[in-house]
Amino acid sequence: MTIRIALPVLLVALALPAHADNYSLPKNAAFEEECASCHMAYPPQMLDANSWRAVMNGLSKHFGSDASIDEKRRIAITDFLVAHSGGRKTGDTRDAQGKPLLRITETARFDKKHREIAAATWQRASIKSPANCTACHAQAAAGDYNERSIRIPK
Ligand code: HEC
Ligand code: HEC
Repeated sequence: MTIRIALPVLLVALALPAHADNYSLPKNAAFEEECASCHMAYPPQMLDANSWRAVMNGLSKHFGSDASIDEKRRIAITDFLVAHSGGRKTGDTRDAQGKPLLRITETARFDKKHREIAAATWQRASIKSPANCTACHAQAAAGDYNERSIRIPK
C-alpha cells in the first residue's frame, strides 16, 4: 500500500532537474525594506510556514535585536513569507519537540548541505556566523547558492 503511493512521487522527484535548488527572491518591497537592513533578505523558501509565523511573532526579541515594525507591515510580510515558504523540499522546519525553528541555519537541510564545513571555519573573523550567507555565497542576496559562486574566505 505504502509503496504503491510512494513510488510515483519518487519518480516525479527523480525527474526534476538537478538545479531544482532555486531560491530566487520573489519581489516584495516591504520585505526588502524591513528584512534586509541588518542582514541579507533570507529566501522565504528556506523555512516552512510555521517557522515564518514564529519569526514574525517574535520581532521585538529577534536574536538579541529589536526588529519590531508596524502591525500592518508585520502582517503583510508574514503573508508574503508564508505564501513563498518552503514546501516538500525544505521539509518540516521544527525541532525535536515540534517547536518551529527560527533559524534556517538550524534546519536539517542546512546541516546536510554544510556538513563538510568545520566548526572553526564558521568562527573565522571573515565569516562570524553561519547566518552570514554572503560571506561564502557571493550571489546569495540574489538567491544564487550555486556551487560555482561559492568562495570560503580565509
Ligand atoms: C535590527 C536588525 C534586524 C532586523 C531589522 C531584522 N533582523 Fe533578522 N536577524 C538579526 C540578527 C542580529 C540575527 C542573528 C544573526 C546571526 O546569528 O548571525 C538575525 C537572524 C535572522 C534569521 C535567522 C538566520 C539563521 O541563522 O538562519 C532569520 C530567519 C531572520 N533574521 C529573519 C528576519 C526577518 C524576516 C526580518 C524582517 C521582518 C528580519 N530578520 C529583520 C537582526 C535583524
Ligand atoms: C562558511 C561558508 C558558508 C556559509 C557562511 C554558508 N554557506 Fe551555504 N554552502 C557552503 C558550501 C562550501 C557549500 C557547498 C557544499 C557542497 O557542495 O558540498 C554550500 C552549499 C549551500 C547550498 C546548496 C547549494 C547547492 O547547489 O546544492 C545552499 C542552498 C546553501 N549553501 C545555503 C546557505 C545559506 C542560506 C546560508 C546562510 C544562512 C549559507 N549557505 C551559509 C558554504 C557556506
